[in-house]
Amino acid sequence: MIYPIYIYGSPVLREQTKPIEANSPELKQLVSDMFDTMYAANGVGLAAPQIGRSIRLFVIDATPYAEDHPELADFKKAFINAEIYQRSETTVSMEEGCLSFPKLYENVSRPQTIGIRYRDENGVEHDDQYQYGGMAARIIQHEYDHIEGIVFVDHLSPLRKTLLSSKLNGFTKGKFKAAYKCKTQK
Ligand code: NI
Repeated sequence: MIYPIYIYGSPVLREQTKPIEANSPELKQLVSDMFDTMYAANGVGLAAPQIGRSIRLFVIDATPYAEDHPELADFKKAFINAEIYQRSETTVSMEEGCLSFPKLYENVSRPQTIGIRYRDENGVEHDDQYQYGGMAARIIQHEYDHIEGIVFVDHLSPLRKTLLSSKLNGFTKGKFKAAYKCKTQK
């Protein structure tokens, strides 16, 4: 099933998400649907709040970037109850986009390397100490923000946000174009 993607301004993008208790067939189906929804929108990451579910789940398939970033060749994962517990002091700035902000791309500064604990969709627990850098760390941190009620424009300077305010207001009013099914606050 392809879900509509909730656009900036939707309250669910700001909600406190709940941990996921047990693995279940429903959870596996949801993970599979989230991958399908992400692919339909040409995304590389999608978090549950973006489909209106306030739970600690996000999926990533970074393999489209593998040509330029060989370490991403098999980077397709679901992250359940993730916790980022290590962040390098070194930060890097990189351009990001988000399916909840169609066609908006902005530079965001984030820690270069992270460590994360999470459960995958098969119920296997992972503890990846300072495992991820570069593009992988970038995408994980972006998606992790979503399950914390944070969106990428929150990282921009007040000046940059002011410059973008009419565009951001446009998202909340449904004034945008996207090539995939969307849901706005109205
Ligand atoms: Ni996003």
